[in-house]
Formats: sequence, structure tokens, C-alpha cells
Amino acid sequence: MFVRINDRITSVGAKDYGSKFFDRLMPTPLGTTYNSYIIKGEKVCLIDPVKPESSKDLLQNLDKAGVGKLDYLVCLHTEQDHSGGWRDVVDRYPGVELVATDRVASLMALHHNIAKDMFRIMAPESVLDLGGLTLKFHPIPFAHWPDNTVVTVVEDNIMITSDLFGAHFIPEDVNKVDVDMHLEEAKGYFAEIMMPTRKQVRKHVLWAREQNPAMILPAHGPAWKNPSVIIDAYDEWTSDIVKPRVIIPFVSMHESTRIMVRHLVEKLESLGVEVKAHDLGDDEHDLRNNAGSAIYDMVDAAIVVLATPTVLTAPHPCAAFGALLMNALKIKAKYLGLMGSFGWGTQVVKIIESLTSAITAERLEPVLIKGLPNEEELGQIDALADTIAAKLAEL
Ligand code: FEO
Repeated sequence: MFVRINDRITSVGAKDYGSKFFDRLMPTPLGTTYNSYIIKGEKVCLIDPVKPESSKDLLQNLDKAGVGKLDYLVCLHTEQDHSGGWRDVVDRYPGVELVATDRVASLMALHHNIAKDMFRIMAPESVLDLGGLTLKFHPIPFAHWPDNTVVTVVEDNIMITSDLFGAHFIPEDVNKVDVDMHLEEAKGYFAEIMMPTRKQVRKHVLWAREQNPAMILPAHGPAWKNPSVIIDAYDEWTSDIVKPRVIIPFVSMHESTRIMVRHLVEKLESLGVEVKAHDLGDDEHDLRNNAGSAIYDMVDAAIVVLATPTVLTAPHPCAAFGALLMNALKIKAKYLGLMGSFGWGTQVVKIIESLTSAITAERLEPVLIKGLPNEEELGQIDALADTIAAKLAEL
């Protein structure tokens, strides 16, 4: 990847079409990029040395950019996908000085076996003078690790934001990025990377808006040439505001739970409620795709109803995975429901409650039915739908 941002900044990172599940978890059907930026004042600085498997691409791009001497290598975040290639860069440019905040340097020492005293430590809001160009360091803790840092190219007011505002997305043409597609991928990225710490992320988003940046250059995906698009979106996603929408992640083994889900969907639709069901057990797709797609829809949904059959008294493992993911990513739904069918006995309510203990949503009365639902039991689902419609109306 070689993209000229302006006379002084060039994007020199790597594309990755091969990884279908980032972190072996998050679906990345459109690939991802590990962004790295070369910044030229009188001194030359590289921001983020990409992942080790991609450092060959980075070094080729540095040749293309005519970088014969590198003065500084700045690391904004420790995770391997951004800093793992540091040794290859140091080997190519032996005189380069490593630069980072104290938090990054401490974690780099731990995760990369690199001596902390090899780093020049930058205090919060301090500047690195490149000669005619200055870089200002601003920590953004827990967006999403403790160490993530924003560097602003002060003279251009261009922000290099580490994982914040990223997207796993390689556009066909970097000069004609489809903004809707970029936003959709950014939302999925937000769900898996930023949603668990959205309260902390919100503070950084408000700070970013105050800076009124001319451009945002994240660590993954294309540049945001109109920063208000992604800042507005993050403002909404990190807020406590939810949309009047119901998401139903479900699994069915012998169709009873599916019948219950269909009945709930039809009843909710008849009440004018927006609802979407996601089959976590869909044979056509990997569970991570099914759960990922459901989670993306939960970023701003008001109500989630998990539906599962009982397997040996416990929730179906696909539903348990969905529950664990919802819990780990801390969905902001206001209400959480549970329903499903069981054969002869069930501990589903207790187990799901334990798997979702970090979700603060108020619990709706569970609807658990033995075997195939009869008319009376379908009436319980009608009552659940009425409750949901009333809760949404209150919101
Ligand atoms: Fe893209 Fe936190 O690494």
C-alpha cells in the first residue's frame, strides 16, 4: 500500500486479504490494512511498524518513498499488528531512535522483549520536533488497550489515531472510498474492538471533535477525509442512546425454538416493532460470522432476546458462544430477554444469567417451553411481544 496523503505524509503500510477472522474471531470479509505513515520534516519519522508478517511490504514501501535514512520510529500501540515489525525496521535503519509514551514502552518491553530504555519517552501532550514539523502525543487509554496513543501532525492538524476510528476494509480505490461501506465496516470494528470500553472511548471521541482535525488517519482501513462522518458515528455508538429495535440471536435443533422465534417476530412486526433474527446455527456460515453479524446489529439495539434449546440441561453451545460474546463486548441494550424449548429439564435461565453477568440490561421474564409450543404457550410469546412493545414505547 502506498498512498500519498500530502507533501509530507505518505501511507506506507500493508494490505492483508488473507485473514478471514481478525484475532481468529472477527469476520473480515473485505480484508484489512496495517497502516503505517512516513512523515518527512527535516527529520524523517515512521509511525507504527506493522505486523511481522507484513514488514516486507512496509520495507518495500519505504524504498518506494525514498527513505534512505530514518530518524525516528514511533510506536502508538503495542499489539503485534502494529508494532510486531519493529525489529525489521531497526535492522534496516540501525541508527533509528525508538519513540513512544511510557505506557507503550512498558508494554513493548513485555510483549516484544525489547528494553524499555531503548525508547525516548514522550509525556502526554509533549511534541517531537521533526524540523519544520511537529508531532504531538496524546494518550487515549482503553481505546482499546491502556497504551493507545494519538499523534497529531500539528502543522496540518492531521490526527494519526491508532486503532480508534479504524475499519477492517480495503477499498478498491483509495481515492474513491464508498463512505457507506466504510462506515458499515467501521461499525463492525467498533462492536468488537471499542464497544467493551465505550465509556472511555466516548471521552476520546469528544476530545477528537474539539480538535477539529483536517483528516483522521487510523491504524486500519482508509483515511477519513471528512472526519465529522466517523466522529458523529462514534458519538452515537458510544452514547447510551439506543434505537427502538429488537435483535433475536437464536439456535434451533428440532424446530421448536425456531417456531417460537418466528412467532415472536411475526407478533412484534404486527405491533409495528422493528425486529431482526439471526440464526447462530446457520449451516452455511461459520459461527463467528453468524454471531458477528448479530453483534453488529446490537451496537445500538434497545432490546435483545436470546433464544436457545436446552442441550443436557444447558444452553446450546452456539447460543452460549453468542451470550459470551454479548457479555464480553458489553452490549448496551436496555432489556435482555430469553426464550427456548427444552426436552425434559433445563438450567438455561441460571446458566445464561451467569454468562451475561456483565450486561447491565434489565431482564425480561424468560419464556421456556417444554417440547413443541402449544396455543397457550404461544400466548406467552404474545405477552412477551406486548411487553417489548410497551418497553420500546417508554424509551
Ligand atoms: Fe489493531 Fe489493538 O490492534
